[in-house]
Order: sequence, then C-alpha cells, then structure tokens
Amino acid sequence: MDRILVTGGAGFIGSNFVHHLVARTDARITVLDKMTYAASREALAALPAERVSLVVGDIADAAVVDPLVAAADAVVHFAAESHNDNSLQDPSPFVQTNLVGTFTLLEAVRRHDVRYHHISTDEVYGDLELDDPARFTEATAYNPSSPYSSTKAGSDLLVRAWVRSFGVRATISNCSNNYGPWQHIEKFIPRQITNLIDGVRPRLYGAGLNVRDWIHAEDHSSAVLRILERGAIGETYLIGADGERNNLETVRLILRLMGHDENDFDHVNDRAGHDLRYAIDSTKLRTELGWAPSFQDFEAGMAATIDWYRANEAWWRPKKDAVEAAYLAKGQ
Ligand code: NAD
Ligand code: TYD
Repeated sequence: MDRILVTGGAGFIGSNFVHHLVARTDARITVLDKMTYAASREALAALPAERVSLVVGDIADAAVVDPLVAAADAVVHFAAESHNDNSLQDPSPFVQTNLVGTFTLLEAVRRHDVRYHHISTDEVYGDLELDDPARFTEATAYNPSSPYSSTKAGSDLLVRAWVRSFGVRATISNCSNNYGPWQHIEKFIPRQITNLIDGVRPRLYGAGLNVRDWIHAEDHSSAVLRILERGAIGETYLIGADGERNNLETVRLILRLMGHDENDFDHVNDRAGHDLRYAIDSTKLRTELGWAPSFQDFEAGMAATIDWYRANEAWWRPKKDAVEAAYLAKGQ
C-alpha cells in the first residue's frame, strides 16, 4: 500500500495515525478533512510535506471523494462527528457526516475497488451493567444509545452490507475510549486537565460511577495499522487495552497527578441517556493478528498527557472559553 487516503486525519486520533504511518511505513498519505471545529493543522505541522498532503473537503461530497479514492491503494476512514454531548444538542451533522459521509466513501471504494478500513467505536454495542462479568466481543449485538453511537452503528452496518452485497474489501474496528495529546478539550480527560490548569474544579457527570475502558491513541493507531496490513477482509476487530476505570477514579487520578486534593471536584448534571459501562474483550485482535498495546501504565500515560496539555496551552487556549460556556449553559 503505497498511497493511503486518511479521512479525518486532522482530528485527534486520525492525526496520531498519520504520524504512525509516517514513522512505520513508506506510504504517501493524503488527508481528507473538512477542518471542522475538531480539526487542527498544528497536529500535522511537523510531518514531511513530501509524505503527507492535506485536502480540505467533505467526505459527503462525491465530487471531492471520487478522485482521491481512485488515486489511493487504501482508505482509512476516521472522519466523524465524534462527541456524544454535541449529538444531544444537534444530531443533524452526525447523520450527515457519519452516515451520508460513510455511504459516499463506500460508493467510491466500490467503484474503484480500493481496500477500505472503517474506524468505529465500542459505543455501538450500548452499555453493560457495572457488575456484569461480560465484556463486548465481535459477536455482541448492536444496541446504541445516543445520536452519536447510533450513527456510528449505522455506518458500520453500511460497511457490512457493502462487503456482502458488492464485495467491497473492507475491515472494521471498534475501539474503546482514547486519551492522549491533541484530544479536543470538549472531551472528559482534557476538559478536566485544562480546568485544573485554569484553577477550576473538575466536573463529574452524575455520581461518576460510569466506567470507560481507556486506551492510548498511539495503541489505537498501532492496532489499526495491524488490521490494515493483516486483517481478514469482511472481519470486525475490537480494539481495547484492558483499561476499565470509573470516572470518579479518573478524576481523582488527574487531581492527584496535578497536585490537588482528590476530593476537589464537583458533581454536575448528568448526560441524558448516559451509558453506564463500556468494556472491550480484544482477544481476537491479540490472538489472530498478534497485536498488543504498549501503553499499559494508565498513570504514566496520564502524567505524560497532563505534561502535554501544560506545554501546549497555545493550542487549546483559544477554544477554552466557548467550550466551557456551552457546558455551563447546560449545568455541566
Ligand atoms: P475528532 O472529532 O477529534 O476528529 C474528527 C475529524 O473528522 C476532524 O478533523 C474533523 O474536521 C473531521 N471531519 C468531521 N466531519 C467531516 C466531514 N464531513 N468530512 C471530512 N472530515 C470531517 O474525532 P476523534 O476522537 O479523533 O475520532 C476519530 C474516529 O475514531 C471517529 O470515527 C470516532 O468515531 C472514532 N473513535 C473515537 C474514539 C475516541 O475515544 N475519541 C474511540 C473509538 C472510536
Ligand atoms: P467523553 O470524553 O465525552 O467520552 P464518551 O462519551 O465517548 O465516553 O466522556 C467520558 C466519560 O466522562 C463519560 O462517562 C461522560 C463523562 N464526563 C464527565 O463526567 N464530565 C465531563 O465534563 C465530560 C465532558 C464527560
């Protein structure tokens, strides 16, 4: 695969994956990104221009997508509206980008017979009870809760149908919650880190007992490259690093690492339809494709992430006031 088209490559995980491709392969990479509020050129700035180019455009625009797909050996599709809270305020861009955008890409890879990898989330499976010993596997039934997760679930089902009906050469991965550098400060971990830098107490939805299964974005990228190179066509692989923690524990860890009392946080309004617990069983990816995560120490990964937000205030500072104003208007 010499030429790889990465959609959403200016976002949090997509940009991490582009860096990973540059470091681990000889591929030339074209990023197709609409440059929404969630994108940043800075995340790609350090990359060599002869290896990486950015096309600003919409994945739902067939006239833009078609020639880029025709020129690629593989497409890795990260582009999405990605934040649950935003999807509760206005689901419309989620339907347009996550469903119509994925449809547009699938039609192009079908026309040009190009290998396609689809990035998705464990949230398509809905949630688990706190005391349920089960974790999500590739056989778990889809049961999404939010406009975000339902549009991601719909996009996965489109991919499965295009594989079966049209013979599209696709794989799918469903990953758990990512953390690391360049994550937008609307998301849980960077919101609390940047609040503390500003002297504001972290804000926990509801009781804070909801469990998320954290994985470093770099481990997500290594898993996606492994699937792209060795995954079986038509298969789904779950990506996770055994990182289950409830939000209370995560906030306390951030507080402690940043030198505060572990009880210096506030409970705020809960999210509507808030999923209780996500947990990934990634046995298939580990046994069939030999993948393993390299960031297994959550505390060390969190400390490095805190350092990164401290060192990169110029990047997130311009976004902070508007993000907090939107949350505060909802009592969050
Ligand atoms: P993000 O919001 O940081 O980035 C999304 C990128 O997609 C942005 O650069 C944005 O400009 C671009 N984009 C949005 N709409 C577009 C459109 N119509 N056309 C072209 N580009 C468009 O998201 P992220 O957290 O990096 O997530 C990337 C992917 O990974 C998504 O598909 C998401 O569902 C999936 N995922 C995320 C997580 C997580 O924890 N963040 C976990 C599992 C899966
Ligand atoms: P988030 O980063 O939005 O990811 P997701 O909704 O995809 O899991 O939120 C992670 C968890 O943190 C989720 O249970 C909601 C919770 N949360 C808070 O408690 N406070 C906050 O300020 C935010 C943004 C999220």
